[in-house]
Amino acid sequence: MSNRWPQWLSVNENLKDLSPYGAPQIPVAIRLNTNENPFSLDSELQRAILKEISDQVSHLNRYPDRDAVELRELLAQFINERSGTSFSVENIWAANGSNEILQSIALAFQGDAMGFEPSYSMHPLISKSVGKKWIPIPRSKDFSFNLDTAIAAIKEQRPGLVFLTTPNNPTGDSISLQEIAQVAQVALNVGALVIVDEAYAEFSNKASAVTLLNHHPNLIISRTMSKAFAFAGARLGYMIASKTLVEAMLLVRLPYHLSDLTQAAARAALRNRESLQREVEQLKVSRDSLISELKDLGLQVIDSDANFVLFSGFEIPASRLWQDLVDKGVLIRDVGIPEHLRVTVGTAEENQGFIAALRQILQR
Ligand SMILES: Cc1ncc(COP(=O)(O)O)c(C=O)c1O
Repeated sequence: MSNRWPQWLSVNENLKDLSPYGAPQIPVAIRLNTNENPFSLDSELQRAILKEISDQVSHLNRYPDRDAVELRELLAQFINERSGTSFSVENIWAANGSNEILQSIALAFQGDAMGFEPSYSMHPLISKSVGKKWIPIPRSKDFSFNLDTAIAAIKEQRPGLVFLTTPNNPTGDSISLQEIAQVAQVALNVGALVIVDEAYAEFSNKASAVTLLNHHPNLIISRTMSKAFAFAGARLGYMIASKTLVEAMLLVRLPYHLSDLTQAAARAALRNRESLQREVEQLKVSRDSLISELKDLGLQVIDSDANFVLFSGFEIPASRLWQDLVDKGVLIRDVGIPEHLRVTVGTAEENQGFIAALRQILQR
């Protein structure tokens, strides 16, 4: 990608070698490539959202609530209900997707950024785009998180930000609360913040790292409504952290960054979330069946706490298998790990369509 900019154009030095985020958006029948929730919102919830949005339309000439207080209160209630915590509005910050949350964190706090790869590709991209050095630390050979390696790397490299992703994208496995607590302690000793990216937390049966916040002031938990809430198109991410860290977000947020329409839609979804929670349970069951079916095809699969699965053990190159599936109308994700592909859990029909196409290709 270097030298693609004309000489007269002074693109920032730290951006020159970067490539934009770009999961292919190909119009095929079965799309299982970006870890979205396959269910559209149920009709009652759609009505509730429309009502809340229509109440805003008459005053769109005015700027929205800059601090999104009512929405943040509802987010705090949601987290407290799930995790038995007692957060209030001042522990929550919200933005247009958790990518914006991650970008605001990277803008607000100093130091190099470290992550344990393979993991979410936007962590390095966001860090580099704001001028940070990215320090990639490899996970173990089986892609599991290695606590000793992580601790040694933090002590030696003294980053300002440490990214932990749990459940991890693209592997689907989790980092335990004990491990997160130990990382947070070592990070505190070198003055680093630990960002726990829990984009897929609702699909996991394990406790959230929000339960560690009282003992670890340098933790930030990043969450999103894009996945479990089936809200990817609405763009709503949020973080849970100490009051002081949330206050720092106000320095880097753009004025009125969350539109009245976004805030209204998210409030309605949070108030009417029962149907969503049923669907998450359904997706967890489908994930486990998908894992068994992949194993029945003789493939290797990492057990996943998320709504996607990373698999390997096929004999053709990953890029070829990916293309053969696209040719059969199934889009999954080549995450760039040799010999591995990632598939998002879809509806029962979509999962069956994927498995049938895969079986045909593998048995050719
Ligand atoms: C680990 C992780 N974090 C954050 C995000 C960003 O999600 P959003 O910006 O839609 O909240 C994603 C999206 O796929 C993700 O996989």
